[in-house]
Amino acid sequence: MSWIREGELTIIERFCANIIKAGPMPKHVAFIMDGNRRYARKCHVERQQGHSQGFDKLAQTLRWCLNLGIREVTVYAFSIENFKRSKEEVDGLMDLARQKFSRLLEEQCFLNVCFAYTSRHEISNAVREMAWGVEQGLLEPSDVSESLLDKCLYTSNSPDPDLLIRTSGEVRLSDFLLWQTSHSCLVFQSVLWPEYSFWNLCEAILRFQMNYSALQKARDSYMEERRRQQMERDQAYVAKKLQQEGVVSHGDSRRRWTLLQKCTAMREERIQSFLQALEHKRADFFERLCSVSA
Ligand code: IPE
Ligand code: IPE
Ligand code: MG
Repeated sequence: MSWIREGELTIIERFCANIIKAGPMPKHVAFIMDGNRRYARKCHVERQQGHSQGFDKLAQTLRWCLNLGIREVTVYAFSIENFKRSKEEVDGLMDLARQKFSRLLEEQCFLNVCFAYTSRHEISNAVREMAWGVEQGLLEPSDVSESLLDKCLYTSNSPDPDLLIRTSGEVRLSDFLLWQTSHSCLVFQSVLWPEYSFWNLCEAILRFQMNYSALQKARDSYMEERRRQQMERDQAYVAKKLQQEGVVSHGDSRRRWTLLQKCTAMREERIQSFLQALEHKRADFFERLCSVSA
């Protein structure tokens, strides 16, 4: 039996899901699943039991998301900082991750797992990779932009989360998706993750719906600003080229326009080749990593 598909919503849950679905729905939801150890303490069970129930709650939450038509979920399962916990706890979490995620993998669901992850590490890695691209002559320094950085992140194949939920009452992001959530609705809930309920999820979605138009507006104006900045960079690049060619007159607008088109197309080409080279570089890295750990 499928882990996330087993068990249906109750009639009342289905009824409320239908009402909520009449409003704008987040397409991508991110969770900071926090509070497992406090839950274990509260219920007088072993810490590992708290973590295990946390993983089970993820399967249940994915089922609710599926029922609500949420197509993509990203979870913070283990941060790089979490390696500082006791060896016993880290080993226990690794065992659980192996067991539970291999079960979830069979589901072919819409889940991105951030494991041994921090956002600052992801962003600095993306910056290093762009620097490598320039060093290799694959990129021009002027190709470096926010939109290229987006493409170098591990999340490049996903849209940014519409809604980010953190449980357990903590109001920090703890280094999770810092770049990707600047226009997301952030919802902090006091419930401990293993106790998360369908109603907590509905409450978070309602908060997203209440803020929907402001979020859209902020996102749209950011995208507009980004397009404008790219255009400015391209124009500056063309002006520099023309200057190098000795064309100083501003009158030759036709030449300027042709060059602008050409430069934009060449930039796109450079970026595509860089991204392909990056993919190979990453694949080689993983191959080497697997052969070392095998
Ligand atoms: C989240 O719960 C799970 C992981 C970080 C792996 P915690 O283990 O942080 O539990 P609390 O927040 O200390 O209760
Ligand atoms: C964040 O929780 C990481 C995960 C939920 C995996 P932590 O409990 O590790 O974060 P801090 O210590 O409260 O910032
Ligand atoms: Mg915690």
